[in-house]
Amino acid sequence: MNPSMRRPLVAANWKMHLVRAEARTFCRTLVGELGAPPAEVVVFPSFPLIDSVVDGLAGMPVAVGGQDLHPRASGAHTGDVSAQQLADAGCTWVLCGHSERRADHAEDDALVAAKAHAARAADLVPLICVGETGEQRKAGKTFAVLERQLAAVLGSEHGELDRFDLAYEPVWAIGTGETATPEIAQEAHAFIRSELARRLGDERGESIRIAYGGSVKPANAASLGAAPDIDGFLVGGASLDAESFSGIIAACGART
Ligand code: PGA
Repeated sequence: MNPSMRRPLVAANWKMHLVRAEARTFCRTLVGELGAPPAEVVVFPSFPLIDSVVDGLAGMPVAVGGQDLHPRASGAHTGDVSAQQLADAGCTWVLCGHSERRADHAEDDALVAAKAHAARAADLVPLICVGETGEQRKAGKTFAVLERQLAAVLGSEHGELDRFDLAYEPVWAIGTGETATPEIAQEAHAFIRSELARRLGDERGESIRIAYGGSVKPANAASLGAAPDIDGFLVGGASLDAESFSGIIAACGART
């Protein structure tokens, strides 16, 4: 297919890093570096930083998203955040099912699917994360794990999700410096693409972006991004520095 049909997506997942002054410095530097980005750009800060980031990037072609949300619209859920609260704070995106949430908070596939639907109810775009652990890969279960994770979000329990993008993040590559090779990543992305096409039809399957995540840096972004089914990146560690994040965004220019 013609990869330019899908505009790359490059997202910063700050996890539980940075305080407001650092977030503001990041935004100032990014504003200076960005120009006209060859990708759709999203920053996912911790909840207390959202306001500073929305403010610091106002007028820039950069969206802001939450790192998580509760599946219910409101209620007695101490410590949780709703889709509507995120939207009200200026977010247009939200991460769903990051492997750290799946591991630290025992989020299962059904909960991830419920969260993605809750996001859409408030018009947020869910960036849904899937990926196998090192153990699952060694046991030859990569495709089975991906198929199971996708089945929940593409299944019909809540009806069809009208809009979402995906991030393939092999857990063994997250924060380890051990990036998947472009061949390994492309193989997983192609499998995910075939599942999307099988369940949603060819046209829709071709339109959904599958970003890669796991130790992405400016130095490896161009070779990963050249793979036909890798449509950008979800970046953790290397997104905390605005210069390295904009280097990763710039690496998408080769594709468009
Ligand atoms: P990393 O994290 O880039 O630090 O490996 C990616 C992620 O967890 O989204």
